[in-house]
Amino acid sequence: MAKEFKRYLVTSALPYANGPVHIGHLAGVYIPSDIYVRYMRLKGRDVISICGSDEHGVPITIKARKEGVTPQQIVDRYHNIIKNSFEGLGISFDIYSRTTSPTHAKTASDFFRKLYDEGKFIEKSSMQYYDEEAKTFLADRYIVGTCPRCGYDRAYGDQCEKCGSTLSPDELIEPHSAVSGSVPVKRETKHWYLPLDKYESTLRKWILDDHKEWRSNVYGQCKSWLDGGLQPRAVSRDLDWGIPVPVEGAEGKVLYVWFDAPIGYISATKDLTPDWEKYWKDGETKLVHFIGKDNIVFHCIVFPSMLMAHGGYILPDNVPANEFLNLEGDKISTSRNWAIWLHEYLEEMPGKEDVLRYVLCANAPETKDNDFTWKDYQARNNNELVAILGNFVNRALVLTKKYYDGVVPECGELTDYDRETLAELSTIKASIENNIENYRFREALKDAMNFARIGNKYLADTEAWKLIKTDPERVKTILYIALQITANLSVVIEPFMPFTAGKILNMLDMPKFDWERIGSVDLIPAGHKIGEPSLLFEKIEDDVIQRQLDKLEAVKRANAAAEAAQNIEPQKASLSFDEFGKADIRVSTILAAERVPKTKKLLKLSIDTGIDKREIVSGIAEYYSPEDLVGRQVLVLVNLEPREIKGIESRGMILMAADASGKLVLLQPEQQIVSGAVVG
Ligand code: MF3
Ligand code: ZN
Repeated sequence: MAKEFKRYLVTSALPYANGPVHIGHLAGVYIPSDIYVRYMRLKGRDVISICGSDEHGVPITIKARKEGVTPQQIVDRYHNIIKNSFEGLGISFDIYSRTTSPTHAKTASDFFRKLYDEGKFIEKSSMQYYDEEAKTFLADRYIVGTCPRCGYDRAYGDQCEKCGSTLSPDELIEPHSAVSGSVPVKRETKHWYLPLDKYESTLRKWILDDHKEWRSNVYGQCKSWLDGGLQPRAVSRDLDWGIPVPVEGAEGKVLYVWFDAPIGYISATKDLTPDWEKYWKDGETKLVHFIGKDNIVFHCIVFPSMLMAHGGYILPDNVPANEFLNLEGDKISTSRNWAIWLHEYLEEMPGKEDVLRYVLCANAPETKDNDFTWKDYQARNNNELVAILGNFVNRALVLTKKYYDGVVPECGELTDYDRETLAELSTIKASIENNIENYRFREALKDAMNFARIGNKYLADTEAWKLIKTDPERVKTILYIALQITANLSVVIEPFMPFTAGKILNMLDMPKFDWERIGSVDLIPAGHKIGEPSLLFEKIEDDVIQRQLDKLEAVKRANAAAEAAQNIEPQKASLSFDEFGKADIRVSTILAAERVPKTKKLLKLSIDTGIDKREIVSGIAEYYSPEDLVGRQVLVLVNLEPREIKGIESRGMILMAADASGKLVLLQPEQQIVSGAVVG
């Protein structure tokens, strides 16, 4: 039995302010949380939705150093981009705060201090890598070296991205600092640790016994952490960016970002309302953390341990973590720019906020990783939003306009079919509620779309456009009902597609309805005049999708080029003048070119070397067509010993270089020059 709560405190993982937000973040965290809170508000529940930027941590300092700006400048930039783009997508936080706020500094600092004063921490010294040039201790991630397992020369101190091994910095061969490039030294340093092991048995009971209803991915991860045994975790770092450790003799030390950030939920609530304590400290509040799967341990184990150590706070009732969303078959990656960035989407696809919300919810990675593709986006827009939702609303409104000049007709006697149709709405309402309250947003969205499906079926079955000639009285009832379904639809889709819900209400010229009125047949009174119908969604054409695919293709190429630039072959062994002098390279002109039959890659080229005319077989058929080549000048190694290829005697080699993607490119003299000219 679901417990009734007095109020709801909903948090969404604080995004790092070191880059913009992308569709993976949205599908994982912000779309589900926004659906949840919008639904709660429609239900008239006391709910607040909390978020903000996570503005501390090492990556921000590294980025600042690279760009030659301050960490504050970095977080200011991204905080604004993120905040505005969330607003643009209709993500309706009650507050979007930031962890560089003064309230947060005080809240986090006091939190630490209380635990410190009560002896809840362990103090421990250890040897850690230190970069003497940059004058900074190095997080494992910022030590780079050769992987002892696979030999990859850019493995990180915590992991090799080539072979996937988990590493410790001590295992790296020739470790160096990613910050300055210098060779790090070991230095002793003191830190404060939260002994998670002390909370282990309480956590075990709280999660494993009392929250069996948590999603299996979340429950499973918690269980495996708990079964593995918890260790004390450092809550401070040697860094000059963050909240200073509020203790004597802690110069140069700040709170670990994963200690301060979740406290950010509390600070943001304080900034939102003076009544913040009732949300955080009253057992009748339901706390729900929306996060991605990489945040599970912090929200289910570490932060709850902090809250227990502090005392007085409630623990989350649920932590619905999503899996990851991939993009066109590849893992989304900020560093590889493999993403669809929200702020760019909003600019490039104006008016399509709800399309993205819809697609990301319909395809949300709730139980397994999922893939976003532009083709699927297009198909869902055209076949679902346009063809089902938009079509129904348009038909209902246009017919009302046409037959009754936009005035809602009187409802006559209902037929059994009318009653059955209306009864379905109430059944679905219960299903949506059950799905949303249990964090099954994809299913809930399907339910909501069923209102439009039912509407379409009702119009198709009742055939108002035929009856208008034979039984105009009946048509009044049909359109009355179609309009009530439309009004109902505006309520059920609001959590998912708030812009569209607003448009429908606008067209109906009605104010927002409460959730509980779903299923009613008197949402719009007879005699009310509706506004002007217009299309809710537009078909998305292939060229629009192609532009987005081209953009991704360009990212792939840029990445390949960057990768290739890092993989430049080392210089070969040295060569004497005499040896080089033996190579006879001439400017030559291509006279004719044709494909070598039954091969994909080979062209037979007739060339004028200035010395003679001869044939060369070259593997460039995939990159150049024969007609492109005739008349071109190229460089040819002419005294290479002849080789027979596919029955053709090939005399010489055309000089080429491969670009980043492996494509072969001909080398050509900068200006026309006589064939036979010596290169050297
Ligand atoms: N910034 C973290 C991330 O993007 C999430 C922080 S959530 C909080 O993975 F609880 F710490 F705030
Ligand atoms: Zn490796």
